Amino acid sequence: MKWSDLIKVSVLLSLSGSLFAKNIPDYKDRNKPVEVRVHDLLRRMTLEEKIAELNLVPYYASSDSAVRAQIRQGKIGALLKANGAALNRSLQEEAVGNSRLGIPLIFHEDVIHGYRTLSPIPLAESCSWDTVMVRRSAEAAAREATASGIQLTYAPMVDVSNDPRWGRIMETSGEDAFLGAAMAAARVRGFQGDNLSDGHTLAACVKHFIGYAALLGGRDYQNTDFSYRDLKERYLPPFQAAVDAGVSSVMCSYTSYDGEPVTMNRRINTDLLREEMQFKGLYMSDWTTLGHAVTEGASRDGRESSRRAMESGLDMDMSSGQYARWLRELVLAGEIDSSLIDRAAARALTLKFTTGLFDDPYMYFDVRKEKKITGSREIRQTVLDMALESMVLLKNDSSVLPLSGAEKIALAGPFTDMKADLMGSWTMKGQAGEVVSVWEGFCGKMPRGQLIHAGCTWDGVTPEYIAGLKEQVREADVVLACIGEYAFHIGEAVTTGRLQIPEEQIQMLRALKATGKPVIAVLFNGRPLVLDQVLASCDALLEAWYPGTLGGTAVASLLLGETSPSGKLTQTFPRHAGQVPVAYNFRRSFARIEHADLEKGPQFPFGFGLSYTTFAYGRPETDRTEYAQGDTVCVKVRVRNTGRMAAREVVQLYVRDEVATVIPREKELKGFASVFLQPGESREVLFRLPWESFRIWNNRMEHVLEPGVFTLQTGDDSEKVQSVQISFR
Ligand code: GLC
Repeated sequence: MKWSDLIKVSVLLSLSGSLFAKNIPDYKDRNKPVEVRVHDLLRRMTLEEKIAELNLVPYYASSDSAVRAQIRQGKIGALLKANGAALNRSLQEEAVGNSRLGIPLIFHEDVIHGYRTLSPIPLAESCSWDTVMVRRSAEAAAREATASGIQLTYAPMVDVSNDPRWGRIMETSGEDAFLGAAMAAARVRGFQGDNLSDGHTLAACVKHFIGYAALLGGRDYQNTDFSYRDLKERYLPPFQAAVDAGVSSVMCSYTSYDGEPVTMNRRINTDLLREEMQFKGLYMSDWTTLGHAVTEGASRDGRESSRRAMESGLDMDMSSGQYARWLRELVLAGEIDSSLIDRAAARALTLKFTTGLFDDPYMYFDVRKEKKITGSREIRQTVLDMALESMVLLKNDSSVLPLSGAEKIALAGPFTDMKADLMGSWTMKGQAGEVVSVWEGFCGKMPRGQLIHAGCTWDGVTPEYIAGLKEQVREADVVLACIGEYAFHIGEAVTTGRLQIPEEQIQMLRALKATGKPVIAVLFNGRPLVLDQVLASCDALLEAWYPGTLGGTAVASLLLGETSPSGKLTQTFPRHAGQVPVAYNFRRSFARIEHADLEKGPQFPFGFGLSYTTFAYGRPETDRTEYAQGDTVCVKVRVRNTGRMAAREVVQLYVRDEVATVIPREKELKGFASVFLQPGESREVLFRLPWESFRIWNNRMEHVLEPGVFTLQTGDDSEKVQSVQISFR
């Protein structure tokens, strides 16, 4: 072909290309803004197709053919619990291939602390106080989940609880709203990255909106009564932080606000979420919550629930089928304005456009990519790094830790070889076989000849086993007692009244103590526990939480002193279940009445955590003592490593409002910073507190700065602090 012909052909092709571009509908034009594409698509859709976008359906292998039939009939907008690039590709083919307008499915999942390679449970992660690390952990989870065909995760869970009886406390980021807000923003940014359509970032869904943790007695799902002040001061800040960080979606809670189920509560779903918080994204129910109101006697039937929920501002129905059943009828009967359906469908479609699914419905379903990314070295390293920073050293008498590595170590107890339970709950596609147990962690770092295996199965802590321990550990220089609460004792719908590890494990600890050898206890659990009996029978105690897939490696690394524990508790540990609820920041009262039959105060306060080194704190200093609205308060405190090992320290800053028009809380966390110091090194840590940090909700529920005196406190936990006073005029 001559050059001239080639040129003619390429001109014709480009012309036809642009002519073609002129003819594709806006919603298919990736160069058009998302809102234009959504608007164009909506006007082409039928009412039924719009309602389908609000129907979120769980997938099970057992319901495969039924779900595929519903997909082909265009009745489903999104799936949850469908996993794997191959399966989700095939389900997407059913949708795109049968949809008149080629509308793709979107796939949701509970990627709470990892997808296949699990990081520590969220409560553990929060004990790192390291938002950079927590963000990295979420990024790693997003990479594995998106490689396996997931585009949205039901995380971060940001409920603020101070009741360890509630099994879901393991999913929280602790008892403090300020820290919870920082963790919420870090996870949203980690999951979502800078571009939701880059194929390895996950749309996040912050939950459970709102006040789920206010349940009485720690009883899961129980309806809640809490004040608007509680809502503003404790439950809202992490949600607002997630919204400000650009979270794509919100999930409502099972519970109620002021008596009305949140599912259909307009004050919560529109006045608060949309108007006050300015959330623009998709708002979905929790699992079948649209059906609960009838059961609870708060609605006559699903038809009424669907009408009230849609009117209140709830966009999407997770797995109850009520929207699919009733919305069309309600619109045709004129009981719901079709504009509400358009509004909800627009939010659901927007997510499909922003995650890239309209431009390439199959971009998340590459089996080769899935194989390459799942369990990669980088992801395993990330969850290990996270575990190392999450564990908290609670006791270390006569510095029995760190071990030198020259000792003969006996490992005893039901968590010596435990794998499955180290993943905690919400384990997604986590494989127990891929978990590094404590025993394997030590075998990976020490000669086998220095290790004595004296462990047992989870149900093997029998009197015979305990009686045989003395002989089993005879040759050891030190004993590692691997103990904990079994993972089925924690998580959703599990509430426990006793906050103890099983009695037989206490007996085992006592027997080990009786050998006269140093006993180091490693505790695996998902909530604050009552530890008086554990503490009485060990020389050192490491709170390992449920540390995830590399948990055993992290335990061995810390106990052998490769790095120092640096975690700090984000939940107060009670001395007794009778003290619950416990927290560091209750509102003050004129008289402090404690339980007469218990030792006063918590076992371990919020912010507590030991190190292999010691740190000395100078007194905090401020740049001025008098401030006005609009000023920034600069607080500096010098921290010195006065021990013999380099280590990370989490420096905490609390503020105590001395007088206000409402009763102030004891104190409130307003800043935290990590420093890594070599032995003898000191660093000046600077906090910049904008004047807004000193605002309160006053006695007229206005969020204002009231003139007065404030005490600023810095230290390494919420009790061990030094203070300085300032005032705002
Ligand atoms: C559950 C939980 C929620 C979870 C959802 C989907 O019941 O309350 O946190 O994301 O259902 O599994």
